[in-house]
Amino acid sequence: MLEILKSGRVLLVAQGHEEKPNPMTIAWGSIMFAWNKPIFVAMVRDSRHTYRLLEEGNNFTVNFFDKGYSKAMGFCGSKSGREFDKFKETNLTPIKSKSVDSPIVEEAFLHIECKVVYKQAMNSAALDPSIREAYYDENVAEKTYHTLYYGEILEMYGDISK
Ligand SMILES: Cc1cc2nc3c(=O)[nH]c(=O)nc-3n(C[C@H](O)[C@H](O)[C@H](O)COP(=O)(O)O)c2cc1C
Repeated sequence: MLEILKSGRVLLVAQGHEEKPNPMTIAWGSIMFAWNKPIFVAMVRDSRHTYRLLEEGNNFTVNFFDKGYSKAMGFCGSKSGREFDKFKETNLTPIKSKSVDSPIVEEAFLHIECKVVYKQAMNSAALDPSIREAYYDENVAEKTYHTLYYGEILEMYGDISK
């Protein structure tokens, strides 16, 4: 399954208090076990619209897609919810989740529902300088630091054989 995460055909959906849900393509993250809970860790740069929605809502879903959805993944990974209704533009369908406010995406084959139980803004001083130079520059929107969101996995369902 982690290979699928690497493929980039994964959408994180977040929703603020009164706003539309917003899908964002993700590739950096992990699944771990901590505090006696299964956890999905997502890394979201502070410049993303998704960052603000996560700060407001404290929950998200993660949705895995097969190859047929590469174009939609490209759109959701390059356009911002600040300017576009990405569900409308991609013809993807948000549907009610079982346990969190953020919806899942109907067309995905696997869904994970998460409640944020911990978050951690990156500490640039603690980062290996070679990674800092390659990936971060606070003056460039595409290179702002990540916040790591630790989401307790409340639900995970779909077809995990893919
Ligand atoms: C394959 C792929 C993987 C990506 N992974 C991440 C990620 O893990 N974290 C992140 O902050 N941005 C990631 N991005 C960039 C965001 O998806 C992109 O900036 C998006 O337009 C932000 O949308 P938003 O402003 O609606 O939140 C990725 C983009 C692509 C194409």
